[in-house]
Amino acid sequence: MRAIQSIIESVADTDATVLIRGESGVGKDLVARAIHAHSERRQSHFIKVNCAAIPQGLLESELFGHEKGAFTGAHRRKAGQFEFAKGGTIYLDEIAELPLGLQAKLLHVLQDFKFARVGGHELIDVDARVIAATNRDLEKALARGEFREDLYYRLNVVELMVPPLRERREEIPHLVSWFLHRFNEQYGRNKQISPDTLARLTQHGWSGNVRELENTIRRMVVLADGEQAFEMLTARNGHGNGHGNGNGHGNGHGNGNGHGNGNGNGHGAVLSAGASEGLREIARRGAREAERKALVEVLERVKWNRAEASRILKVSYKTLLNKITECQLASPRRG
Ligand SMILES: Nc1ncnc2c1ncn2[C@@H]1O[C@H](COP(=O)(O)OP(=O)(O)OP(=O)(O)O)[C@@H](O)[C@H]1O
Ligand SMILES: [Mg+2]
Repeated sequence: MRAIQSIIESVADTDATVLIRGESGVGKDLVARAIHAHSERRQSHFIKVNCAAIPQGLLESELFGHEKGAFTGAHRRKAGQFEFAKGGTIYLDEIAELPLGLQAKLLHVLQDFKFARVGGHELIDVDARVIAATNRDLEKALARGEFREDLYYRLNVVELMVPPLRERREEIPHLVSWFLHRFNEQYGRNKQISPDTLARLTQHGWSGNVRELENTIRRMVVLADGEQAFEMLTARNGHGNGHGNGNGHGNGHGNGNGHGNGNGNGHGAVLSAGASEGLREIARRGAREAERKALVEVLERVKWNRAEASRILKVSYKTLLNKITECQLASPRRG
């Protein structure tokens, strides 16, 4: 990350277009904001447009604005995000999701530094620094014809690859202490993390990268037995050191980049079973399984005293009963 920090500083005071790449949750948004914050444009807006979150039909108007009457429902002129970003930075997140037609328009805009609102002729000057980001394999998208090569080279003036967390484990202790401090303050707690848990945290696979680490620490701070739950998870999944192989791929994380062939080392094996599923379904399934494990563990510990379990898990008694039914768990006494 120190290398990235120095790139951030060296590109910040130029207007060069930057393409930030890296898996989901590695901190691309943070890097984009840091570039803006270090730049001479920091007094103006930082505008983020998530190209995947806006329906394709609305994206052009969202980016470039429209004139009154440009299409049904365009009752008045509307400025687009490129106009709002005047003097500042526009951050185009998930750029690989930009439809081909809009890729062509964006290329022209980046070449001519001018654009017209949808349905308009007046040319407006672009005065925004452009930063784009993606967690997709752009080379594959190029090969499949889903992403324009000329736009790729235009965006890629400076490419910043943010490595996955498993390839920069030395940062984990620092991140843990930062998140611990932040969540202790936020939730009015004073949780500490044992050296043993810290070692596990440092060894863990972190397929969800910093976002997953952040949520794990949040849970440890909020839940009475969050630390034990993490220990159970890693113990059961055989995480001990299975992810420390340094090549970063090949252990079945399902990171959406075409890796994830599963080597049977626990966590990887669970996720690789669903390599053909969408990432969202994999995440949902992972969450369900984690929930089920936590339920079983707590219920066994309190000998199926449901009131006690609901207190430990910090859910209402009714929610707990629903979860037990959902997970099809049965008290051993009832068979
Ligand atoms: N170095 C860091 N220090 C503190 N927090 C971090 C760091 N890197 C990432 N985070 C946190 O991790 C979470 C995910 O980061 P971010 O949203 O920047 O990821 P991303 O790469 O943009 O992910 P996605 O591809 O899913 O959009 C955020 O809550 C962010 O604040
Ligand atoms: Mg992001």
